[in-house]
Amino acid sequence: MSQSSTYRWNTSGATEAYDVAAPAIHPYYEKVQDEILDLLSFGAEEAFELVDIGGGSGRLAERVLEQFAGARVTVVDQSEPFLALAERRLARFAPRAAFVQSRLQDEWKEKLQAAPNVIVSTSAIHHLEPAEKRALYAKCHAALAPGGMFINGDEYRPESDAELRALLEEWSVHMSDAIAAGGIPESFRATLDFWKDRNINRFSEPKKSGDDCHETLPTQIGYLQDAGFKNVRATWAEKLWAVVVAK
Ligand SMILES: C[S@@+](CC[C@H](N)C(=O)[O-])C[C@H]1O[C@@H](n2cnc3c(N)ncnc32)[C@H](O)[C@@H]1O
Repeated sequence: MSQSSTYRWNTSGATEAYDVAAPAIHPYYEKVQDEILDLLSFGAEEAFELVDIGGGSGRLAERVLEQFAGARVTVVDQSEPFLALAERRLARFAPRAAFVQSRLQDEWKEKLQAAPNVIVSTSAIHHLEPAEKRALYAKCHAALAPGGMFINGDEYRPESDAELRALLEEWSVHMSDAIAAGGIPESFRATLDFWKDRNINRFSEPKKSGDDCHETLPTQIGYLQDAGFKNVRATWAEKLWAVVVAK
């Protein structure tokens, strides 16, 4: 079952604005992608399978396909509008790009053409509540080919509520300023207002699946270890964002 059509990433206004302005919305968007690409230690022509879960409009997939001529990439996402953008963006790489519409909580792994050598994700898994994250990490561990790697560039909260709130407020100002300066389209304002209401005005309300269910790095490293991953570590962290790799 897909998420509701009113879910914020299921409206074409939000997805199109995010697609064009992601590097202005997310202060470390390209830095996170650079970190992930650096962790892919494959030769330029070497064959490998990569799956991007919550891959949205395929911006990271595009960089993987450009850099690695032997890569095949599958974008998994629940959002029809995001997948439509991804299909358009990656059409020039056919048949090296594939698409699966699925919630991360559902059986996306059964729809893959081959066991992946790498599963990556950016800015998506924090939408899952704790039990869903644990189940997803177990699913990723089971899906990977032997010796495979999982990499998540995502939002990880600090321990303290006051620090988390300050980081969210700082990000909110960053996004508002970027809309005012024209770096983010006006059409993103409704998404930002929704985000501010949920994350700042209603900061203390309990989070449910689909909200920003922020958890700390140590908590999520623990979840990955419990799922069977070894060598779990953060390779980069700044403010609300970090890249975690697990083998
Ligand atoms: C902020 S966007 C990031 C997209 C892309 N990874 C990027 O960095 O450009 C969040 C993405 O996560 C997807 N997503 C959120 N919750 C999901 C879920 N439960 N199952 C599948 N995809 C989900 C959304 O549809 C959206 O594409």
